[in-house]
Amino acid sequence: MTKHHTSLRAFLCRQTWRDWEESVKRLLPQIHAVDQTATRIWFRFYPLDLAEAFEKETDPESLARKLVLMGRYRLHDHIDTSHRFLYGHRYWPTVKQVTLDRIQTNSVPADLTELISDVATRAAKQLDVELSLLLGISAVGVMTLRQVEAEAFRALPGAVSLHATALAQSPDGILKARARDDRQWSFGLSWGLGKKWTVTFDENLTDASFRLIHGQTLTGAAANDKRDHHLRNSRCIVREGPIPVQCRSAFCGTCWIGVLGGAEKLSPVEDLERDRIREFGYINTDDPKPFIRLACQSVAFGAVSFTIPPWNGIVGRFFQSRRTGDAPTGQTPPSR
Ligand code: FES
Repeated sequence: MTKHHTSLRAFLCRQTWRDWEESVKRLLPQIHAVDQTATRIWFRFYPLDLAEAFEKETDPESLARKLVLMGRYRLHDHIDTSHRFLYGHRYWPTVKQVTLDRIQTNSVPADLTELISDVATRAAKQLDVELSLLLGISAVGVMTLRQVEAEAFRALPGAVSLHATALAQSPDGILKARARDDRQWSFGLSWGLGKKWTVTFDENLTDASFRLIHGQTLTGAAANDKRDHHLRNSRCIVREGPIPVQCRSAFCGTCWIGVLGGAEKLSPVEDLERDRIREFGYINTDDPKPFIRLACQSVAFGAVSFTIPPWNGIVGRFFQSRRTGDAPTGQTPPSR
């Protein structure tokens, strides 16, 4: 590793979760609407606290057990694909290369915002694309470099994992699709006539949707999708749909999702979900319609689009301990 790599690496390692949070917040108004929520979701799916905890851990398996982690929680395992749900993913090869080039330079930025903006500006120039479409994916690129070794970051090809239909979509087309309510009428329910909506769980796949009856929970509707989702996601239960579930009662934290579109068409967060989602460590907010939800507690009244994280766990108290400087206390089983 060169001296320059070392100085930028040292800069990145000095940045706390709060520095990242403030930087993303400052950049958010400049990020294109298509990726504003997606960028915030990505930073929840790949928290710096979790990566740092494993960097310092001599017994990672024990820590994973303590945090009740399931799935692929290491960003290292999906460097080129973790951000498929961002529109900016299509620019990943250039953003990745620019990020790598940037660490070869000898200038340490004043702050994270400057570094991310610099990467995005260089990529926008190379691609001749508006800057707003590059800022979210550039923030993701710089954080990815922070969480994984530069060698691992460089070793993968930086491929784009989108099929032709997804690639052809415009930012405005995606925003319109997220806002659309595609109500269908369904006869035969006990009360006569029911409304059904389309729920999308991966905008980049043409078959990644299921039907939801007005007023159903997301997990209740997903369970009617009997396809082999467990082959794509090992946390899914066979014939129980694309959303991983264990309890359906806000107890386990398995079913968390990032809502890309239609958050306002979900039931407001109630006290149980708010408390549990804080304890799981996924988000800490008083927003009644946040972009991170427990799908088993989310009742839908319209078409919704969301993305599914690759892991789940119970990390809230652990993060809190790290942030306040107390010794991590581990997790205790939550009370129902
Ligand atoms: S399925 Fe357990 S919290 Fe939703």
